[in-house]
Amino acid sequence: MSALPGSPEGVATTGLVDTPVDSSPETLAELPPLTEQTRLEAREIIARYPVARSALLPMLHLVQSVQGYVSPEGVALCAEELGLTKAEVGAVATFYTMYKRRPTGRHLVSVCTNTLCSVLGGQRIMDALSSDLGVHHDETTADGSITLEHAECLAACDYAPVVTVDYEFYDQQDVESARALVAALRRGEKPAPTRGAPLTDFKGISRQLAGFSQHGDDAAARAAVDAPAALGPTLAGLRLAEERGESAPAMRRPAAPAPDAEEPAATVAPSGRTGESPGKEAADARVAAADTPAEKAGAAGSHPDAPEPARRRLPDGREGTDTPAGQEPGTSGQGPAAGSPSPNPPLGKA
Ligand code: FES
Repeated sequence: MSALPGSPEGVATTGLVDTPVDSSPETLAELPPLTEQTRLEAREIIARYPVARSALLPMLHLVQSVQGYVSPEGVALCAEELGLTKAEVGAVATFYTMYKRRPTGRHLVSVCTNTLCSVLGGQRIMDALSSDLGVHHDETTADGSITLEHAECLAACDYAPVVTVDYEFYDQQDVESARALVAALRRGEKPAPTRGAPLTDFKGISRQLAGFSQHGDDAAARAAVDAPAALGPTLAGLRLAEERGESAPAMRRPAAPAPDAEEPAATVAPSGRTGESPGKEAADARVAAADTPAEKAGAAGSHPDAPEPARRRLPDGREGTDTPAGQEPGTSGQGPAAGSPSPNPPLGKA
């Protein structure tokens, strides 16, 4: 379990990773301060969203763009600006691996060691870099140039084994090419990624992830996004199909529903024998034909005789409806008793 020191509301725990957030006096003394400018930019991010707390993820990237990790000071700033508790901010910051708990090096080198990359050499790359740099997963070299981490699937399996630097892709690496890449980074060079935008550094990409462009103007930003890419493996199938004159069969459009499609004749056609309206008779048949409690609850809920759901005032002042017990989507009729608290209550204000 991990804890955010200094949180009077309690500790943030995730149970996923046990690395504590670095709040040692030496680290804090060396951090660049979060300035009034940072606070103004945080407010600029908040203004992009209809609900303030939706801004939390980019705000955490903003904190990392200044201090290189989500520091206790950064957690406090986000909490203050969003009206959340520090424990709530910490719970989010410690859940996602892109939010770092210790100051990150100038570059973050991530080696995919998930299944496909691993069998093609990803683990060998990780081992070689770890040995060269003298650091293990989630550690930073003494000169502060590189933080090394192993990563789960980076969604580029067709380029395996994959390494990213500050989330930019370096495809189809092997031990030697990865060693050369990291050596160049340590010399202060920025080798061009295999595809996508040019390399910046960890703080630079964090700023981009916060939604602030690193490029001087729109034309420069467009040029970076449209930078030439080597999409060989991804497009191999398409190229082969073109060469062979093959194409996928046309998609068949689903037939337009009949006007009375809601009342399938085979199962729920009104018989006219009950004296009820055809709609009610069909609804009765749907309830009778339901196999499971969930289906029965759904059919009963859509019956013309079903009572209107009770309306109630939500904590934020809007009006909402109570879902009857047992009729929650995805349940099998075993929902919580009416009035029992939700297992996922909304984040409250501090
Ligand atoms: S397994 Fe490495 S990118 Fe998918």
